[in-house]
Amino acid sequence: MSHADNHAGSGEGSRRDFLYYATAGAGVVATGAAVWPLVNQMNPSADVRSLASIMVDISTVEVGTQLTVKWRGKPVFIRRRTAEEIKAARDTKLEELVDVNGENKNKPDADASDANRTLDEAGEWLVTMGVCTHLGCVPLGNQGDFGGWFCPCHGSHYDTAGRIRKGPAPRNLEVPISVFTDDKTIKLG
Ligand code: FES
Repeated sequence: MSHADNHAGSGEGSRRDFLYYATAGAGVVATGAAVWPLVNQMNPSADVRSLASIMVDISTVEVGTQLTVKWRGKPVFIRRRTAEEIKAARDTKLEELVDVNGENKNKPDADASDANRTLDEAGEWLVTMGVCTHLGCVPLGNQGDFGGWFCPCHGSHYDTAGRIRKGPAPRNLEVPISVFTDDKTIKLG
């Protein structure tokens, strides 16, 4: 085998190794920093995990439905509420709530009034972490005694603003850092 053949052979070997690393995902970290940028481009899940922010296209979300997206390894609920759901949430008084803190990362000191929880002023859009504040299960949408979410793990009921109303969970579903960047895109983080 000539020197040139050897050289070509090792080149192929490297390329195979690289492809292997690229599909192996997060396990490649130890192989060196230089591999990372390429892996991030080629592996969407690693990409999403590593990003602080993601853009979510909400143009197909219909009134009365919710989109669940994965962000930083956790589910996030993006709910487009009906007029009835908005009214139920806005008519609820603070005295009726278990947790009067808005639990909204965008408004750290605000109380749990519905207007302090929603992304838009009209209250059509509600964005919350899909993580029960009791022990971290993923609550089910459009269920429970208050029409919001129900966590089947130990029976926590959240209202249509994602506020805990009944059951063992101590806090409202957290509202993550989020903003509309245009009328059909929500940025998380
Ligand atoms: S984890 Fe949701 S009620 Fe316990």
